[in-house]
Amino acid sequence: MKQYLALLLIMLLISCKDNPKPITGTTSPKTEIKAVIADSAMVVSARAEASKIGASILKNGGTAFDAMIATHMALALTHPNAGNIGGGGFMVFRTEFGEIGSLDFREKAPLAATRDMYLDNNGKYIPEKSTEGGLAVGVPGSIAGIFAVHEKFGTMPMEILLKPVIELANKGFLITPKQKARFDEFKDEFEKINGGASIFTSTYTAGDTLKNTALATTLSRIAKNGRAEFYAGETGKKMIDFLQQKGGIITQKDLDAYEAIWREAMVFKYKDVKLISMAPPSSGGICLSQILQMIAPFPLTEYGHNSEKYIQLLVEAEKRAYADRSEYLGDPDFIDIPVDSLLSNTYISKRMKNFSFENATPSETIKPGKITSYESLETTHYSIVDKFGNAVSVTTTLNASYGSKLYIPELGFFLNNEMDDFSAKPGTPNMFGLIGGEANAIAPQKRMLSSMTPTIAEKDGKLLMVLGTPGGSTIITSVLQTFLNVYEFEMNMQEAVNAPRFHHQWLPDLILFEADGFSSETIKNLEAKGYSSSNQILPEIGSVDAILILPNGKLQGGADRRGDDTAIGY
Ligand code: GLY
Repeated sequence: MKQYLALLLIMLLISCKDNPKPITGTTSPKTEIKAVIADSAMVVSARAEASKIGASILKNGGTAFDAMIATHMALALTHPNAGNIGGGGFMVFRTEFGEIGSLDFREKAPLAATRDMYLDNNGKYIPEKSTEGGLAVGVPGSIAGIFAVHEKFGTMPMEILLKPVIELANKGFLITPKQKARFDEFKDEFEKINGGASIFTSTYTAGDTLKNTALATTLSRIAKNGRAEFYAGETGKKMIDFLQQKGGIITQKDLDAYEAIWREAMVFKYKDVKLISMAPPSSGGICLSQILQMIAPFPLTEYGHNSEKYIQLLVEAEKRAYADRSEYLGDPDFIDIPVDSLLSNTYISKRMKNFSFENATPSETIKPGKITSYESLETTHYSIVDKFGNAVSVTTTLNASYGSKLYIPELGFFLNNEMDDFSAKPGTPNMFGLIGGEANAIAPQKRMLSSMTPTIAEKDGKLLMVLGTPGGSTIITSVLQTFLNVYEFEMNMQEAVNAPRFHHQWLPDLILFEADGFSSETIKNLEAKGYSSSNQILPEIGSVDAILILPNGKLQGGADRRGDDTAIGY
């Protein structure tokens, strides 16, 4: 408990009194929620310990890229439902010199994967096969990711970057009340799927200390032996042996073939802001760009934040973008994606031609018969800015909470179930009752389509904002609303993150509202226009962690109130 209080104290100490107004906007909201402010550098992540470790690297002279490596591994330890070694993700970056780019360390389908691997002999989709146990696991990319970052941008030795995480894994971190609830929820499933007990099947109380000495040993070997430890060494070998006992099909050949890929980022404009986001195999950048282009001609601030008209406009743009997502998006190394056409002005204005504030456009009239794919709600995001002005925006995932639920006791980490992000049977509903497209069908070595949207905004050639969130298909719409909350509605970063969210993803034809965030009158009025809604399915949407660069150069943090998220800077 003492350690927890100390962390809180650090947060309070660095949170300063000045919260100047951000960059732009035309309305005057009541600014009441204080945001954490830092003079030089900041990390915002899902856990105080991870933000603290990242911030200590920054304080000791490391760059945002160095801090990325330490923060990523610290989340694997302290936020094991989504932080990972056994998963993958995407990083978007902007250097102090304004260079931009992205790193794709998304998982890949194993070489032995087949299009119909999750179907029975009658061609029926068996959802458990793509979500639980060995067959659900994609080839992990996180370790390749951190080493790619280290090779290109790292300024500190890997041993130094991993040292605080190894120490914390040996010493233990405090279980938060929210985390305890998660452990309780999943412990029977861990035991069932793994066929035995582990540190994650014990019953904990909030405030207990959890040590993961197996992870400390794995990280020590990785620090010493490098990337090869995971893809060709003892760790990789143990992982493959474990997976083979659990019905998995990943082999040494898959590990040999895995590469993280530096990709061009998706760059687009909204009014006078340049946004830099993730290109395919994430759908994030393309969808965000389409939605922003569709809504740009409308006077959002006149409608008012979360007003009926505002919700209607965003929802209609979201429907159209998500419909396109289902049809056209997948791994660019396997399919041709008509990016230029999808983003062209002519196409975008045509898409909104049948939009009217009078009535909802029914989803089936937007694109009949072709349906979107969908991901689960568990992922995590962190945003980092260093004193030099480098910025990284990283979203990483195991897919479901604790991924496949397979935990390797000897190595100390969970394995993903990212294979479920593929369309297991194009045209047939997956475990979420939704349907995936042909472009995202399973093929050996292919990367599954993602919604992860790590994003960086730039204005007048200067860094403006770094943001992202977990939340499966709600990621794109949460990033969208958080950006608009600052840019159009003049909220500070914390207010923008706190504000209630809504979401539409074309199919099901349903607006999801965060519980208690919207008046029953607004919802009723929208229903009268033909919108179906629910505030039951997702009590919370997303968990945005973001940094805004203020006009005076200071950094303003937005750490989502929905989780244990924390902004730490100096
Ligand atoms: N598994 C979540 C995503 O990639 O979008």
